[in-house]
Order: sequence, then structure tokens, then C-alpha cells
Amino acid sequence: MSYQNIHTTIDSEHACALTKDYIDKLKTQDNGALAALAESNRNNSKNLIYILENLGSLPDSFNADWLIKLTNHHNENVRFLAVKTIGKLKSKQYVPILKHIVTSDESTMVQREAVSSIGRLRDKESIPIMTELLSNKDPKVVCQAVRGLLVFKGDPLVDKTLQAMANHENETVRATVNKAYFAKSNSKNTDLPHNETYPFLKNVVVNGDVRDILKFVPDESIHLTFTSPPYYNARDYSIYPSYDAYLGFLKEVFEEVFRITKEGRFLIVNTSPVIVPRISRAHSSKRYPIPFDLHYHLTQIGWEFIDDIVWEKPEYSVKNRIGGFQQHRKPLAYKPNSVTEYLMVYRKKTDKLIDWNIRQYDSETVENSKVADGFETTNVWKISPKSDKIHSAIFPAELCNRVIEYYSFKGDLIFDPFGGSGTLGRAAKNLDRLFFMTEKEKEYFLYMQSFQNKKSLFDNDTTKFLTLEQFKNSIHDTER
Ligand SMILES: C[S@@+](CC[C@H](N)C(=O)[O-])C[C@H]1O[C@@H](n2cnc3c(N)ncnc32)[C@H](O)[C@@H]1O
Repeated sequence: MSYQNIHTTIDSEHACALTKDYIDKLKTQDNGALAALAESNRNNSKNLIYILENLGSLPDSFNADWLIKLTNHHNENVRFLAVKTIGKLKSKQYVPILKHIVTSDESTMVQREAVSSIGRLRDKESIPIMTELLSNKDPKVVCQAVRGLLVFKGDPLVDKTLQAMANHENETVRATVNKAYFAKSNSKNTDLPHNETYPFLKNVVVNGDVRDILKFVPDESIHLTFTSPPYYNARDYSIYPSYDAYLGFLKEVFEEVFRITKEGRFLIVNTSPVIVPRISRAHSSKRYPIPFDLHYHLTQIGWEFIDDIVWEKPEYSVKNRIGGFQQHRKPLAYKPNSVTEYLMVYRKKTDKLIDWNIRQYDSETVENSKVADGFETTNVWKISPKSDKIHSAIFPAELCNRVIEYYSFKGDLIFDPFGGSGTLGRAAKNLDRLFFMTEKEKEYFLYMQSFQNKKSLFDNDTTKFLTLEQFKNSIHDTER
């Protein structure tokens, strides 16, 4: 809850409305007036919080004795704000009390604020205190101490101490130190601007195994991948010798996708747990948790987990598994209808912020790519599935439209390694993006081509359907 806008609170002692103006007025009087106000509200945490949040800037001469008293208050938020206000005074005289708070306050939020207040002093004398805090058991306190020490980056002792933290057991501490001292850009491709790609990849579909095709795709050439991989052995078009082999195959593909993805850009994988039917009545069917097992491999490759979006389908559209249970109602044999699939969102790991990615585009492109009103505000996307007479598992166009609009700019190159009937490519084209797709099965590759003559789908002039050989040749034929 924010207390910022509470104007109706009453200063009980003085029977006067507790407002920002009132607090400002007291600030111009001597310090005793504010101290008295705080004291009279000692048992009213809500009022104390209001006072502390509305103190605004404080004069250098401000006497913080009453604030120090509040660092022992029973309410964690009061203590936090008292420490924060003491920190704002930026006076060395409060370092011992702040240090005491770090080691004694039971709240990590208060502890962290105390470290941050010490750090804000930017005072060399606080280096030993912050160094001591590097061994604190709370990683968030350690992170604040690292940040405080980084102000003195260049000081040989500080550098040595911090560099030794590069293998700290906490991942955020490691990331902060590594970013400061050992950051290497993932970016290999320096001559191709971030917002551009190679002409031989633009609006191209290649028939073949994605692993063979990607060998010819240069590093950092695509902006976004959205794909639905084969469902292990749950559908007839995919047969893998084992589940491990299947995960190994996906790992191989997404390693390559990582390489060809531009710095800081996204991969969105649509999967769901699948059931491989039982082989006889004496056996049970087996459920494979693909998204959860694949997640581990993706993060090992260097994909950073960003979000999980749940695609929810209407119950009537999914296979009915609950029928048996509905009749017998016997516990343990409960089998709910699966109405969800996942869209797992990952970003190619980088030290650069999303703002950096956005700055790689001109303002017109950014403006034109802005997402219109009516966008989805939650991570549950209710979309009906699409059935198709030729391909048994195609994306609904709406799913592609959302992913493309939320995760790419106009003119970007969108990739689908498992192109199927080509839904993603057509959606990309309709949304003024470019596409690149690969598809192994000749039947589906030909099916994609059949859309070519239909208006507003793939148009004749710009879409190329190539064999692997033709694709290889096109690389040499095309000028960048
Ligand atoms: C779930 S479907 C994708 C359907 C697609 N999203 C659509 O909207 O039509 C997966 C596709 O991956 C293809 N595939 C499987 N293994 C492949 C491989 N090694 N290389 C390229 N495509 C492959 C399958 O033939 C299948 O069409």
C-alpha cells in the first residue's frame, strides 16, 4: 500500500490534519517540532509512515536524533523509512548506527537500506565496513555492499576484493561482479546493424532438417524465434529413439538458434506436457513434462528465462480425459482435461538492457511498431486452437500475431525452425515483418507453397521456397 496520498490522517496530539503542507510547515520551524510530532504518533505507525514519506528534502543541519529513535520501532516499514531518511542526510556521523542496523535488525529490507545508505555516502572510510558486509549471509545485503564498493572501482584493493567474488554462490552477486569486471558482449557480429539482416534470409522457407540448414545461417541474423517443436512421439510426424534423444535434439536446435539470434532478443517456445499412449491395457500411458525438462537445457545454453505465458483453450476443444472419472469418482484416477499449453519466453543473455535494444531502431520504426489498445494484460491467453485438414498441429494466427507484436519491431526477421504449415510466416508478413522458416517434411513444405496464390498470404514476388542446395547457392548469389 502506498501512503503517499493519505491526506485525511489526523495528528492525534495536535488535532490537526496531517498533510504534506503541515509537515513542510513544521520542517521550517526548528527540528523539535517534527520530533514532537513523531513522538506524539509513536503508536500510530500509519501516521509515522506518512510523516516519513512526506519529509521531502532535508537541510544539512537536520538533527536526526528522532529518526534514530525510530530505527527501534516495532513496525518494519517505519524502521525502513527512518533508515532511508537518515541515509538521505549523507552524513558520516551516522555510519556506526547504520552499520549496527545492518548486523542487528531482523528485517532484511531494513538491513539492505542501511547498507545502501552507507554506500550512498561514497566515502572511502566506509570501504572496510562494506567489505565486511560482503560475508553477510543475506545475498541481497551482499549485493548492496558490492554496489557500494563498485563506486570505488579502480582502487586496487576494492578491485581485488570484488573480483574474488566472481564465483560467489549467489547468482545475482556473481552477475553484478561479472558485469562490472568481466563483461564480454555476446555480440560477435559487429558489421551488421542490430535492426538489419541478410537479404538471403528474408521471406525464405527452406525444406530440410533445421540442423543442416542453420549451419549456413550467420551469427546474429534473426530478431525473434517463435516455434512449436514436435511433440516428442505423441504425433505421427515425429519418431525419436528415446525422450532423452528428443531433448538432445531440441537442445541442438536451440543452441543454433541462440547463435543466430541477435543480442538480447527473444525466443518463445510453445510446448506442453504430452501423453504417449499406453501400448496395451496392462500398461499405463506416460506423460512427459516437455516444457519443464526443456527449460533446464535452454538456460544451460544461455537463454535467460523471462516469462511463462499460458495458452488456455476452451474445454470443448480438447481431448476428454475426465469422462471415466466422471462416472466412477475414484480418487487417484483423477485426470483433468488439459486446456493449457505454455509459451515459455526467453531472452538471449546479455548485459544490455531492453532499452539498448529499442535504441537500435529509428524513432519512426519504434513509433510504428507500438502495440495498439486492446493488448493482453495477463499471462493467460485465451485463444481457440485451430484445426487443419493437412497439418495436425498448427498455430492459431492470433497466437502468432500477439507474439510478433509484443516481441518484435516492424522490419524484423522472425524465425520458425519448425515451420509446419507456415502460420508464423504469414502472420509476420501481415504485420510488416520478415520471416525465415525451415520445415523437414516435403508434404508440409508443399502445403505452405499452396498458400502462395491466396491473396494476402504469401505473395508470389517476395517469398522463396528453396531446397537446402538452392538455399546454399542463394547465399553466394545475394549481395548484402
Ligand atoms: C508442431 S509442428 C509446427 C506447426 C506450425 N507451428 C504451424 O503453425 O503449422 C512441428 C513441425 O516441425 C517439423 N519438424 C520436425 N523435425 C524437424 C526438423 N528436424 N527440421 C525441420 N522441421 C522439423 C514437423 O514436420 C512439423 O511440421
